[in-house]
Amino acid sequence: MQKYLINPNQKIATINKDIYGHFSEHLGRCIYDGIFVGKDSKIPNVNGMRCDVVAALKEMGLPVLRWPGGCFADEYHWKDGIGDLKDRKKMINTHWGGVVEDNSFGTHEYFELCRQLGCDTYVNGNVGSGTVQEMNEWVEYMTFDGVSPMSKLRAENGDKEPFDLKYFGVGNESWGCGGNMDPEYYGCLFKRYNTYCRDYVAGKHVLRIACGPNVDDYHWTKEVMDKVKHHADGISLHYYTVPTGHWHHKGSATDFDRKLYDSTIYKAYRMEELVTNHLAMMDSVKPHSRVKLIVDEWGTWYDVEPGTNPGFLYQQNTMRDAIVAGLTLNIFNKHADRIMMANIAQTVNVLQAVLLTEGDKMVKTPTYYVFKMYKEHQQNTLIGSYITTNSLHSENDNGDFPQLTESASIDENGVIYSTITNNSATKAEKIKCQIADTKVTSIEAEILTGECHAHNTFDNGDAVQTVEFTDFRQLKDGFTATIPACSVVKFIINP
Ligand code: AHR
Repeated sequence: MQKYLINPNQKIATINKDIYGHFSEHLGRCIYDGIFVGKDSKIPNVNGMRCDVVAALKEMGLPVLRWPGGCFADEYHWKDGIGDLKDRKKMINTHWGGVVEDNSFGTHEYFELCRQLGCDTYVNGNVGSGTVQEMNEWVEYMTFDGVSPMSKLRAENGDKEPFDLKYFGVGNESWGCGGNMDPEYYGCLFKRYNTYCRDYVAGKHVLRIACGPNVDDYHWTKEVMDKVKHHADGISLHYYTVPTGHWHHKGSATDFDRKLYDSTIYKAYRMEELVTNHLAMMDSVKPHSRVKLIVDEWGTWYDVEPGTNPGFLYQQNTMRDAIVAGLTLNIFNKHADRIMMANIAQTVNVLQAVLLTEGDKMVKTPTYYVFKMYKEHQQNTLIGSYITTNSLHSENDNGDFPQLTESASIDENGVIYSTITNNSATKAEKIKCQIADTKVTSIEAEILTGECHAHNTFDNGDAVQTVEFTDFRQLKDGFTATIPACSVVKFIINP
């Protein structure tokens, strides 16, 4: 029996809702088909946005959406995506599948999507192939309320009122597809570009995100932090879970053996080490800095589904992905004092998507249900919690990872939300939870579980979904429970 202690007296930090953020790039069928079908489509839509997708994302609780990339961002010239549709430039999306990008989804469409979703906005600017003037004008176009050429152009294109821009990314993966730069050079460029991204609205600062490291590139973090520490609000880490560790054979999303399952979970759990070490590196450059960590690309990355365009990054999503999502979100919650935002890649039809579409059909993936289960953590207060756990072993990596992960938060009414993952593919685990200074009046619980390959398809969209969880016994100051193998469980504890 493992011991689980929750201490509601230890209030650590507000869990920024943006930790539950998403990322949508002009890549494959994420934006086009997945979200945006155009006003003339037979698929039910409002101003071109799929009604089924928008409704599902709202129900799941999507707090912030990053756009337009990714690698696409550093080739994106925003003026191509405004104005009359028939006059918008058609171009080749060189990064992703070599397909025609007709620019029918641009700045106005993005803000319309966020309006429909009721979410905050995160636009990523182009440092790699764009100019300082181009970036300066985009921020002016989006946010300036006074008389200026860009605000005039925006009004001519249908939006007199400025848009509400919360975050602005100055470049993406500048160490790679965003220009193959050295950190010292990028750090200087950040300062230059950022200088001309003005705050046009009195009293409102657009939060500036600097391109951070790839995986464990601590040198990048050190050098960039040194340059941007007085200018940026966040530094973004990118980390993908690739089960085999080889980019050319990443492994199938649905056809994997036990060793690859364990290796996937082991590699996903590496997020804990990466977040801890990058934060330590940031502190070593400037302690108590206002610069927060952002993880604006994370998730599983497998080989594409057989027969699909390799440049579209379309993959299925199983209970294995649900465990990755559950444990990663627990890690982010636990670092709520330092992580401002995270964005899983990518919302629909790309990588670890929460939704898949095919024509007018839509399916919710196991990852979708995890985000929905965890949504009450958004803006709650992270409280102290600790669980004992066995270690599991990944043979492929010759390393260990914990069988159980958890995090706990409290809302303004004193209700406690605890989310637990059992990362073992086969072993259930008993736990005994004790909550300090709390008399429990009632507990409700929900579970997402299944054999680790279980997934939803267009023919059977309900194979994996959350159900009520009853295998627990309420105690006066906590509960005992058996957490099934390969499961994510949420307890709602009413004092
Ligand atoms: O999410 C897919 C790609 O992964 C993004 O475009 C890029 O930033 C990262 O390498």
